Parts: sequence; structure tokens; C-alpha cells
Amino acid sequence: MEHPGENNELTLWENAGFPEQVQDPKLMRLLMKGANNVLDVMLDYKQLMFAESSAMKIIRTKLEILDTEFKMTHNRDPIHSIQTRLKSQASILQKMSRRGIEPTTENMERYISDIAGVRVICGYMDDIYTVEKLLIEHEDIELLERKDYILSPKPSGYRSLHLIVQVPVFLPGGVRKTKVEVQLRTIAMDFWASLEHEIRYKKDLDNKALLKRLETCAEVIARTDEEMQAIRVQMEAQENPTKEMEQILEKLRRFDVPLG
Ligand code: GTP
Ligand code: MG
Repeated sequence: MEHPGENNELTLWENAGFPEQVQDPKLMRLLMKGANNVLDVMLDYKQLMFAESSAMKIIRTKLEILDTEFKMTHNRDPIHSIQTRLKSQASILQKMSRRGIEPTTENMERYISDIAGVRVICGYMDDIYTVEKLLIEHEDIELLERKDYILSPKPSGYRSLHLIVQVPVFLPGGVRKTKVEVQLRTIAMDFWASLEHEIRYKKDLDNKALLKRLETCAEVIARTDEEMQAIRVQMEAQENPTKEMEQILEKLRRFDVPLG
């Protein structure tokens, strides 16, 4: 039996370059249904990744603004640099398979909290907690999880402050609350973590002596971080802008802070 519009569809498929042997209307309808379903899944995934990437940009902008604001009032910026990354599809799927989670877009959104990642590199250790406090104070930010690997370093020696925050993203289809992983660390912690990651992370390196040496490096770095902070605090305590000229210069320096 001929279906209405079948001839039109056939011409369409012919023009679309489908080989003759698959131009059977029933088979084509089946293929189209399959393609439609696959595209729905792909578009859902694309929407999720768009929300994730937008949330990442929102967090980055918030951090840049609070950094400039801090500089205008304290004459130094707590944030040295910011890096952002979207987790690759392969890493997302590997993580879900490791955890035995069925790979659906819904599960990705629910269970994978580090699709959007923001890494904040600070000069000093106390800056990390200042930045955390200033970020969490934002009314639209919800803190879902906090792991302080500075207070309690990982056995590897890894140190950083990890936050999972949730931020509303306003999209044409409505508001989508989206999770972002924020990792805060000092320049020194980042130096260690970056090199250690290359050398070891997630590889089964079983040489205890080498692992111990890596951990010792992390401890030396942590002591240097403490010492650098103590020096800065002492220097600040000695600064005494009593003279009027010094006070004016200090205000001019604040006024000169670039607005980004
Ligand atoms: P993941 O499955 O790796 O995401 O583990 P998790 O969800 O338990 O999170 P965790 O708090 O362990 O933090 C994971 C992230 O922190 C990693 O993606 C790394 O960026 C970083 N990290 C954690 N441990 C180490 C480590 O020992 N060395 C280095 N270089 N980075 C680490
Ligand atoms: Mg993680």
C-alpha cells in the first residue's frame, strides 16, 4: 500500500543521496525514527554542555570582579590567575563507567559535579579562604560540597580547596541550576600538582620511595607557602602610611587599578 506523501519522501531520499537499496519506505521510516531519537539525545547533551559552559563563565566573571574589587580596597589582588575547562566527553563517560552509572544525560547532570571546572590560583594561602568567602557570599551561589585538602592533605601530598557550587543559568527554556567545581590553590601548590599529575596521577606507580619523595616535596612547598605568607603579613604590619603624601599615593594607586 502506498502511503500519502511517499513519492515525495522517496524523491527527498534520492536527492539526499541515499543508495538505492535502502530506499525502501519502511526501512527509511525506521532509519529516520532512529536518527530522530539519536538527535534528541545529542541535543539534550548539547543543551547540558551549554549550561555547563555558561555556568563556568559566570563563576569566572564573578571571580574577576571580586579580584578587582579587592585590589581597589586592599591594593593587591588575591587571584594570580584563573583557568577553566569543560570535561571531555571521554572523561565523563569513563568516570560514569568507573562509578557504575548508566550513561544518560540526566545522570551526567545529577552525578557528575565537575563537568565545568574552574581553577583559581592565588598568591598566598589566606587568599584562598578570602576568595572562597567572597564567592560564597553571592546570593545566587549555593555551596553544595567543600573538601579542604589544605587542612587535610591527600596521602599523595596533594593540597587545594575544592568546592562544588551551584549557580542559576538563565536560558531561553528557563533557569537551569548548574554545578561547577572550583579548585583553589596557591601558585606553589599548583606547581606541585601540575608536575605530580604528569608524573603520577591515576597511574599505578608503586615505587614507595618515589611516592615518598613526591610527598616530601609537597611538604617543603607547604612550609614555603607558610613562610611567604608570614613575611607578607609582617611587611604589611610595618607599613605605616602616616605621612599625608604616602596616603595620597596609596589612594591614587587604588584609583589606577585597571577595571578589566
Ligand atoms: P575524581 O573522580 O578524580 O573527580 O575524584 P573525586 O570526585 O573524589 O574528587 P577529588 O576531591 O579527589 O578531586 C579530584 C580532582 O582533584 C582531580 O581531577 C585532580 O584535578 C585533583 N586531584 C585530586 N587528587 C590529586 C592528586 O593526588 N594529585 C594531583 N595532581 N591532583 C589531584
Ligand atoms: Mg571530582
